[in-house]
Amino acid sequence: FEETTIRPHTLENYIGQEQVKANLRIFIQAAKQRSEPLDHVLLYGPPGLGKTTLSMIIANEMGVNIRTTSGPAIERPGDLAAVLSALEPGDVLFIDEIHRLSRHVEEVLYPAMEDFCLDIILGKGETAHSVRVDLPPFTLVGATTRAGALSPPLRDRFGVMSRLQFYDVDELAQILKRTAQVLNTELDEQAASEMARRSRGTPRIANRLLRRIRDFAQVANKGVIDQEVTKKGLSRLQVDDLGLDHVDHQLLLGIIEKFNGGPVGLDTIAATIGEERHTIEDVYEPYLLQIGFIQRTPRGRIVTNAGYHHFNLERKG
Ligand code: ADE
Repeated sequence: FEETTIRPHTLENYIGQEQVKANLRIFIQAAKQRSEPLDHVLLYGPPGLGKTTLSMIIANEMGVNIRTTSGPAIERPGDLAAVLSALEPGDVLFIDEIHRLSRHVEEVLYPAMEDFCLDIILGKGETAHSVRVDLPPFTLVGATTRAGALSPPLRDRFGVMSRLQFYDVDELAQILKRTAQVLNTELDEQAASEMARRSRGTPRIANRLLRRIRDFAQVANKGVIDQEVTKKGLSRLQVDDLGLDHVDHQLLLGIIEKFNGGPVGLDTIAATIGEERHTIEDVYEPYLLQIGFIQRTPRGRIVTNAGYHHFNLERKG
């Protein structure tokens, strides 16, 4: 319940991603003027930047209902056929982690996206034949952490592709102040900036830190979340000055200590620190690349001088 109320419901109240918003505004207005559904939209970028929120806003701005599912949840072609058949004209179908759809399921999606129909195979062997079933026109909104992980035929069927970017400190501070209001918590200006600086450009992380710091403040009988309680809380959460957490540290120090700063392959790093390759690639690496602490080279990942300096270390040799 809380989770849905801290999400903004309109483009107007959605902070940041200005380019993405400006374009969506136009495409939504144009589709409405033509009384057509919005073209299919692919939202991609690192986790926690607001892809699900944006899909809900798209449906709301179009004045239609949204059905939400995910790549891993749609196991068989029949599962997708059932979801598609239940849509009302104009509805938004949101598929999170769309890169995880199986090949067989994808093949049902192609004619559905292109011609709003299903090709259903009836019977077996000699008597097998396919029938075409019309679907209501709909908008598919797909979300993925990596557009490169989508099969090209699926990627090509999206008319709108929007890449979400990390948020700057100012935008995150605005989001935090908005969330604090929804949570009925007083958050002072300096505390908001401190938390924003240490949220790795990611609203989901910012909102999570706010909830935890609110816990510390409440138990310490502090009426207001100020910079002092924020700093203490963040240090107890093992969030460092730049917002890097325990896993970021393991990743960077693992490469520094065991591989002299790299280059080292992702699978080797994954085995060394006991995290999934894909978790490192999709969740941890993007921000470390963005702040220039690691680099991708053809021979693997390296920790940069800036990465070394963060730990007051120098590269050997
Ligand atoms: N909560 C999460 N992401 C948000 C955003 N971009 N704007 C406002 N509130 C948010």
